[in-house]
Amino acid sequence: MKGIVLAGGLGTRLDPLTRITNKHLLPIYDKPMIYYPIETLVNAGINDILIVTGGRNAGDFLRLLGNGKEFGLRHINYTYQDGEGGIADALDLAEHFTEGEKICVILGDNIIEGNIVDAMNDFRRQVRGAKVILKDVPDAQRFGVAEMNGDSILGIEEKPANPKSNCAVTGIYMYDSTVFEKIHTLDPSDRGELEITDVNNLYIAEGTMTFSILEGWWTDAGTVDSLRRATNLVAKTGANRLSFHD
Ligand code: G1P
Repeated sequence: MKGIVLAGGLGTRLDPLTRITNKHLLPIYDKPMIYYPIETLVNAGINDILIVTGGRNAGDFLRLLGNGKEFGLRHINYTYQDGEGGIADALDLAEHFTEGEKICVILGDNIIEGNIVDAMNDFRRQVRGAKVILKDVPDAQRFGVAEMNGDSILGIEEKPANPKSNCAVTGIYMYDSTVFEKIHTLDPSDRGELEITDVNNLYIAEGTMTFSILEGWWTDAGTVDSLRRATNLVAKTGANRLSFHD
């Protein structure tokens, strides 16, 4: 399985912090934000990674990460998103890289306490389709929200005013190679972006979406409040722990 870290966007919700740098290069406690999602993938056994970035500071990722020696990698791949087409548009740039393999996609501002080893192993055994990672949150209206019926997901709503559950869809997604065909059928949403939630709903409609519930804390870091929360959580307990009993 290959890994993709999406690290584009203007980070406007963090202005002026993001006026002269990319959001994913900002510090979370003692490391730049992008370190955490890379570690999440590496911990789950992925060593073929593509970083999708954009904007004016793309070169800084190469200066910071190089070939990924710090993460035990021999090589990191990079690509560039022109403009602000949304998460699914950024993912579309990974098609040539994936070469028909399954992929794990992680948003560059998603940080977790634990790991996704079990979910990833389950998805390695899943013949086709996709898997999302869910987490109960107190502020579901900020996220994609899953409508559940027992053990299945009926649908996902992007930032609903009245969420049908507390179950947020985290920014960690696993897909088979049909994800690119699905992206190519999308129309831009009201905010002019190709939405990852629309991709996920296509998998749900075809009956091939599974899910895992994440253990340990999860946070994004794309707003001033969540950036502070991420820093506090990492300072308190550390991130990307391979066991909760160590
Ligand atoms: C994105 C997705 C949303 C998901 C969230 C996780 O939202 O659109 O479905 O729950 O990431 O971090 P964004 O924060 O980019 O607006």
